[in-house]
Order: sequence, then C-alpha cells, then structure tokens
Amino acid sequence: MDQITAQNIQANLSEYWAPRLRVEVLDEVVSTNTLLKTRGAEGAPAGTVVIADTQTGGKGRLGRSFYSPNHTGLYISVLLRPSDMNPAKALHITTMAAVAACEAIEDVAEDSVSRPMIKWVNDIILEDRKVAGILTESAINATSGKIDFAVLGIGLNVYAPEGGFPEEIKEIAGAILPIEIEGARSRLAAAFLNHFFERYACVSNSENEAKQNQILDEYVKAYKARSIVLGKSVNVIPTGGGERRTAQVLDITDDCNMLVAYTDGECEEAMLSSGEVSIRPIGEIK
Ligand code: BTN
Repeated sequence: MDQITAQNIQANLSEYWAPRLRVEVLDEVVSTNTLLKTRGAEGAPAGTVVIADTQTGGKGRLGRSFYSPNHTGLYISVLLRPSDMNPAKALHITTMAAVAACEAIEDVAEDSVSRPMIKWVNDIILEDRKVAGILTESAINATSGKIDFAVLGIGLNVYAPEGGFPEEIKEIAGAILPIEIEGARSRLAAAFLNHFFERYACVSNSENEAKQNQILDEYVKAYKARSIVLGKSVNVIPTGGGERRTAQVLDITDDCNMLVAYTDGECEEAMLSSGEVSIRPIGEIK
C-alpha cells in the first residue's frame, strides 16, 4: 500500500525547506484546515504542515464538503503567517498553490499524464476531470487589518477510491495516478511543498520588492498558461444566488481576478473576484 509518512515527505523536501517545515501526518481528522486554524490561533509557527490520510468533514470552497476517502487521497494544510501581505493579495496564496500542484503532479506522474490545467480559481484539472481543489482560509487581525495567519488547504485525488467516486461527483472527479505506486503520495506532498514555498517565500518577503514583483509576474504567467478558461466561453454563476450568465473570458489580471465580457445581452465587461462567482466552461458536465 502507498502509505504517507512524515519521514518520506521530509526526505523528499528540498535541502532548504526540510529543516524549515514541521510536517505531521495523521490517520484521520475532521478537517486538516480546521485543525490547523486552531493551532494557528494557539500560536503554532508558520511552516507547520498537517497531512491526513482521511478527513471525516473535509471542507471545500463556498461551504461545500470535500470528499476525502482514506488510502487514496492526500489532504494537506499549511500554516502561513504572511504578516506583510495585504489581505487583498491573499488570493495569490491559492493561485500560487494551484501552479505548485500542477508542477508537483508533473514531477510525480512524469509522462503518464497529460498537462495538468487550472480552472479559475482553485480547481486542478487533468484530462477534463477535477483531481484537486484548494481552500485558503485567513484570520485577519481586527486591530491592524493585516493577515494574522492563513491556512492553505489542498485536497488531491491521487488514486480513484475503491468502488469509484460517489454519484454526486462521479462525472467531474478524476484521479492523478491509474495504479498505486509505493511512496507516491509522500513524494507528491513534498513536491507540492517545495514548489509552493519556493515562490511563496519570495513573495511574502517584502524586503526585495523587485524580486517579489518578478516572481509574481512569472507565476501569474504560469497560472495563465495553464488556464482552461482563458479565451473561452463560460457560465458565470453568482455564489450568492442570482442569474447565471454566459461570458467570454478576456483576461486573468495580475491579481488573479478575471476580466470577462458578457455575451448574453449588452456586451458589457466585468471584473470578477473569486468570492463572488463560480465559473464553468460551457459544455462541462455538472
Ligand atoms: C474545493 O475544491 O472546493 C476546495 C477543496 C479543499 C480541500 C482541502 S483537503 C485539505 C484541507 N482541509 C479541508 O477541510 N479542506 C482542504
């Protein structure tokens, strides 16, 4: 069986990050994000990472649940303390993680899979199936208005669960690897952490602004290059309810917001932020 172990993850972390991250692997939790939010409030240091083999109450975006069966998935939460980051820029944590997840999948799956892509804002897509989702939760300091801490959570469907995905998601969910490979989940976790922290460390350090901007610029380009919605027709679904509209995606901005032109009436343009809408490419089964 492909067991996740802290030792194997640690052994696959880069020389720089291995001593800087505290990785804990648990068999079962309600939600790694919820657990790490509690630890964050109690003062746990940035770089604390909790990984679980299964979650009984895995959380997705917009109050949804995230299916988290044992032995086949990888559920990771990372505690960050980006004290200098403007809360308006916190979306970069999610989008940077999306690029890191794609790169990690490529590292571990090598030539056995096609190019992992991103559905704005937080879904990782492989061969038209969602194989991972990201949920970042932030605690804002009421006095300073700054981010006290953020918990970056990612759930990856590494293998198909025994008996297949449940009815509600079986048309959209997919697995990264077709067969079990010993140590693959640990290597995937380490590759994700290496790729994510390589960029995040530069961006969260405000000392070298030029370097910060260069990294931001480079990864937003990488994010856009993997976008499945850029230039496409999409359904825009307001998360708070309201009318679904069709639109053409014109751009993903430097802040990872989405510029669209509605195509179902007056051709008006709008800038959409991730909290206000869901996007589905037209023709996607759901
Ligand atoms: C989504 O697809 O809507 C986001 C899913 C995020 C799931 C991960 S699994 C690890 C972490 N713990 C949670 O409860 N959720 C995130």
